[in-house]
Amino acid sequence: MTDQYTRATAAADYIRTLTPLTPRLGIILGSGLGNFAAQVEDPTTIPYADIPHFPQSTVEGHSGKLILGHIAGVPVAVMQGRVHAYEGYSLAEVTFPTRVLGLLGCKSLIVTNAAGAINTSYKQGSLVAISDHINLTGSNAALGPNEAKFGPRFFDMTNAYSLALRTLAHAEAAKQNIPLAEGVYLAVLGPSYETPAEIRAFRILGADLVGMSTVHEVIVARHMGLEVLGLSLVTNMAAGVLNEAINHEEVMETGRRVEHQFTSLLKALIPQIA
Ligand code: HPA
Repeated sequence: MTDQYTRATAAADYIRTLTPLTPRLGIILGSGLGNFAAQVEDPTTIPYADIPHFPQSTVEGHSGKLILGHIAGVPVAVMQGRVHAYEGYSLAEVTFPTRVLGLLGCKSLIVTNAAGAINTSYKQGSLVAISDHINLTGSNAALGPNEAKFGPRFFDMTNAYSLALRTLAHAEAAKQNIPLAEGVYLAVLGPSYETPAEIRAFRILGADLVGMSTVHEVIVARHMGLEVLGLSLVTNMAAGVLNEAINHEEVMETGRRVEHQFTSLLKALIPQIA
């Protein structure tokens, strides 16, 4: 198999045949947040299936399109849907689209996700700026021979979730009267939700949120030197916090409920970030 850089270059070259736009900002939309893609003006919409080497999601609620265009005057590339390791994809596949966003010219990345709340001060529907992560998936997307055209072998993760971008997000949220919390995202492999004992353990480790995505995308984004803003939507309280079961339908429904706030915050942030 060819290396990731060659494959990502082929994907980026294909995308460039469809639009002359050079995106400056990449946006990955998580579960229940896909409708934000409707904000893109003069969109070029590309099904993942058409893009060489692009992985395709098998999960309901992750539709699988790359949309290039402008939001508030900023050239953006929006991923409506992502693939997860729990679907059986390798981390190289999970992070392939992020590599392509970097090669297309994105300098920053907004990654969004649905997450369970470990922190009991959060509520279903809370928006949280991710301050840091704990990767408990047992692997790392940058594993394997380093592809130096993407970045260095060893790279810093101290400011993985840019303080500057978080500060902008908090200021804009305050301006719009949208409550925006801040917290540490812990990633598990899934697809089973966690047990209550795991959630108690994760709380002791310092996690506020739990989810099954994001960390590997952020790792490769940092490998390529992109600035990252991570936003989580709390779709449910994590296992054992409430005395009830967690279901995927609830995850999707919560997304629809806070869509308006999410859209309004993100739209105002985009020109400030880029
Ligand atoms: N656990 C893991 N991933 C999730 C959850 C959860 O409770 N909610 C949404 N994604």
